[in-house]
Amino acid sequence: LKIGVLVSGNGSNLQAIIDRIEDGTLQAKVVCVISNKADAFALERAKRHGIPTHILDHRAHASREAYDVALVDLLRSHGVRLVVLAGFMRIVTRVILEAFPNAVMNIHPALLPAFPGLHAQKQALTYGVKVSGCTVHLVDEGTDTGPIIMQATVPVHDDDSEDSLSARIQKEEHRAYPEAIRLFAERRLTINGRKVIIEPSY
Ligand code: GRF
Repeated sequence: LKIGVLVSGNGSNLQAIIDRIEDGTLQAKVVCVISNKADAFALERAKRHGIPTHILDHRAHASREAYDVALVDLLRSHGVRLVVLAGFMRIVTRVILEAFPNAVMNIHPALLPAFPGLHAQKQALTYGVKVSGCTVHLVDEGTDTGPIIMQATVPVHDDDSEDSLSARIQKEEHRAYPEAIRLFAERRLTINGRKVIIEPSY
């Protein structure tokens, strides 16, 4: 399974995916890492593992759609079959979703449908929930609204800060994301108990 990973920042989820590939848990290959930010540390991580990287600056494109056309071209040029959003701070349009039907995944640091959008951990603390976690989902045109693939929970402690809660959630993200990708790679992905149909060429 050829994976393209889209990033904007640290890339700890990218790292977790690479690690599971390298230890043989995940039968896949990250064929490219694309960032909209030149200074994303995720790019360094990719380079260390010999993965081709690209910087695609959204400011150089007239619209979200135009940006996504460039993204699709780049992903296709690497033969990507699954697009993995890993801390990619851009909303994707139907241009990408139509190019990769049922094959764009995202991870969100809350138990969706609670706390979508930015600062999910802060939203959780402000609301006062006692449990939070992460959600891996297929991407649709909404923000953090697509069908849920996998969730993992963590407790929220009374003395948690945004940082301490984020760190606890990230540990779970690093387990859940490679696991969700493994289900896809093994064609065992189900949504609401129904098998997700994946193009035969995958
Ligand atoms: C993660 O918390 C993820 O849930 C959110 O962005 C963060 C990315 O972290 N979508 P990293 O760049 O993978 O370390």
